[in-house]
Amino acid sequence: MNTQSKEKLVIFDTTLRDGEQSPGASMTKDEKVRIAKALEKLRVDVIEAGFAISSQGDFEAIQAIANTVTDSRICSLSRAVRGDIERAAEALKGANAGRIHTFIATSPIHMKHKLQMEPDQVLEQAVGAVKIARSLIDDVEFSLEDASRTEFDFMCRITEAVINAGARTINLPDTVGYSDPGEYGAMIKRLLNTVPNADKAIFSVHCHNDLGLAVANSLAAVQNGARQVECTINGLGERAGNASLEELVMAVRTRKDVFPVETRIETQHIVPTSRLVSGITGFPVQPNKAIVGANAFAHESGIHQDGILKFRETYEIMKAEDVGWTTNKLSLGKLSGRAALSSRLEELGIKFDSKEEFNDVFVRFKALADKKREIFDEDLAGAGF
Ligand code: KIV
Ligand code: ZN
Repeated sequence: MNTQSKEKLVIFDTTLRDGEQSPGASMTKDEKVRIAKALEKLRVDVIEAGFAISSQGDFEAIQAIANTVTDSRICSLSRAVRGDIERAAEALKGANAGRIHTFIATSPIHMKHKLQMEPDQVLEQAVGAVKIARSLIDDVEFSLEDASRTEFDFMCRITEAVINAGARTINLPDTVGYSDPGEYGAMIKRLLNTVPNADKAIFSVHCHNDLGLAVANSLAAVQNGARQVECTINGLGERAGNASLEELVMAVRTRKDVFPVETRIETQHIVPTSRLVSGITGFPVQPNKAIVGANAFAHESGIHQDGILKFRETYEIMKAEDVGWTTNKLSLGKLSGRAALSSRLEELGIKFDSKEEFNDVFVRFKALADKKREIFDEDLAGAGF
């Protein structure tokens, strides 16, 4: 597909709000500002900096970020009540571009057991909240919490009403990570086709990872018309986390033939940002995590290493450098073949006079690799190769 015809996919990062809801991941104000600056460098469109009413610390962090970051829009979450909304607007005063994100639950289970409200009361409160927010700021997002378990007719009614009240972005969260890609994509498509004023807003998704489907659900929604994805660095977030920013962005970039959208993310900053978030939160990144895991571009099998040395695309669909690694890695171990060993020795400036000499080195290398999981450059030097 021609890049010129691509629509923009808004990247809304909520590492500092939903990400901080990962048990044990709380961050100080200064740490949040450092992460916000990294997200700005990454060229995230919207940074959800916190939930202003939830604590004085959150309020001050949002304020500090709003006063520092200029290239990304800064957002505060608020429940659909006046006090929350006014506190969010206050925190965002210094922002170059600000957004209030207000929400209320719309599923029968949440309305009945949590809110103890009738659907009509919820609708009225949602519309009132959006109007209050719009009187304070131009850019208002409204979320139907637990949208994926909301009755479709009610979803349409409330969406139409909050758009008329001035919401510019409508977010349909899969709050409990219950949906599957086919169902969730179909829900977005049907909603866009049913709500009469759908063209007046951007439709957004916010998926949780309880069944490991957050990224797949978000991408299915994008294929069906969603034009904002809410995500976090390293997939942090409440319970099993949110859709991971790095996976969404690289999926869209790598499979241009499948996704009709583009982002403005500067992908070479992904790995440094992931490391920063991991270092600050103390949440390690699993080695086999897509894109940012230590093994994401490491090749172990001899057959794969031989293929990579001959033609990189045999086993790589992305370039390690494009996401911020310095290079890919051929790890030397018992599965490595002659091609990988000879290439590494050549890089180290070790040359052989004959084929026999190299054969002898290879035998010694295999013997060492049987005793040691990974062979490092120091091992090669130490073994007198
Ligand atoms: O998961 C969720 O529904 C949320 C909303 C507040 C957007 O985090
Ligand atoms: Zn969430």
